[in-house]
Amino acid sequence: MVKIVSQIKDPVNREMELFEKKFYESMTSKVALLNRITYYIVNRKGKQMRPMFVFLTAKLVSGGEVNERTYRGASVIELIHTATLVHDDVVDESNKRRGFFSINALWKNKIAVLVGDYLLSKGLLLSIDHGDFDLLRIISVAVREMSEGELLQIEKARRLDITEEVYYDIIRQKTATLIAACCSLGACSVKPDSPDVETFRKFGELIGMAFQIKDDLFDYGETKIGKPTGIDIKEQKMTLPLIHVLNNCSKEERRWMVNSVKNHNRNKKRVKEVIAFVKEKGGLDYAVGKMLAFKEEALALLDTYPESDFKNSLHLMVDYVVERKK
Ligand code: IPE
Ligand code: IPE
Ligand code: MG
Ligand code: MG
Repeated sequence: MVKIVSQIKDPVNREMELFEKKFYESMTSKVALLNRITYYIVNRKGKQMRPMFVFLTAKLVSGGEVNERTYRGASVIELIHTATLVHDDVVDESNKRRGFFSINALWKNKIAVLVGDYLLSKGLLLSIDHGDFDLLRIISVAVREMSEGELLQIEKARRLDITEEVYYDIIRQKTATLIAACCSLGACSVKPDSPDVETFRKFGELIGMAFQIKDDLFDYGETKIGKPTGIDIKEQKMTLPLIHVLNNCSKEERRWMVNSVKNHNRNKKRVKEVIAFVKEKGGLDYAVGKMLAFKEEALALLDTYPESDFKNSLHLMVDYVVERKK
């Protein structure tokens, strides 16, 4: 897996190095407390898949060139991604992120909310200060949709009659929309008025769908991924494996599942039984199948472009999304 990641990164190594510097600089503040926290954040960096998507799409579309707009766009996206994770851990009352304590776990909710807002505003200002208004539009749409997605999830994902379609709406908004923004922004940074901007938006959206299905599958697994697992049922968050089984089992089995999730969601043994039942009934296989279908759709779009190192890396990146171990 490490080998694959370095292979993916290869054509954008220089850009990613410079990006990391710029990304950290974009966070600094005169307030010492904020600097301590942003220092903590950059030292526990994530996979940085979003900036990689930005640089790879920009280079594919331009034939190898990136510019200052591309760098700023990548920083804005990672700032916003970081802000949403800081807020998400408050919303989900989660105390772990990237293998360490979350911001809310260390500094409490009040500070985490304000830090998230700070990162969001720094991102938006980075675009505004340089007049990148076309990129700012792409990003602002994503920010709006992510907030709507998180709220849609709160409204619908605890309902035991949730449909697959509603689940897809939720993950499209809360997750896929930002990866869509990465790819369309990458294209837009180098070729503002080309049809590639829309093609790559769609490409990123399809990958984003696969990405979140994978994330939801981790919750059913035992692997250590740096954040809590086995909590979705406890929090009564219905995801694809469970939704599929709920809609495809006998009345009696359904009654037992509904009762388990509704009334015994904090009972560890019972939750384990539900997880085992979902596995036995093929819920995970079904979700894997859907994830791979989104992946194939994304690859079909990519295939309309001529061969290049960047295309090759994007292809590997799509494989990585569905095969990754964290
Ligand atoms: C986590 O995204 C949030 C989701 C959309 C599931 P990543 O898995 O890309 O997070 P980091 O940046 O690598 O920690
Ligand atoms: C990810 O949502 C955060 C956003 C997409 C805003 P989740 O709550 O499902 O993801 P993790 O598991 O905490 O990263
Ligand atoms: Mg969440
Ligand atoms: Mg969460």
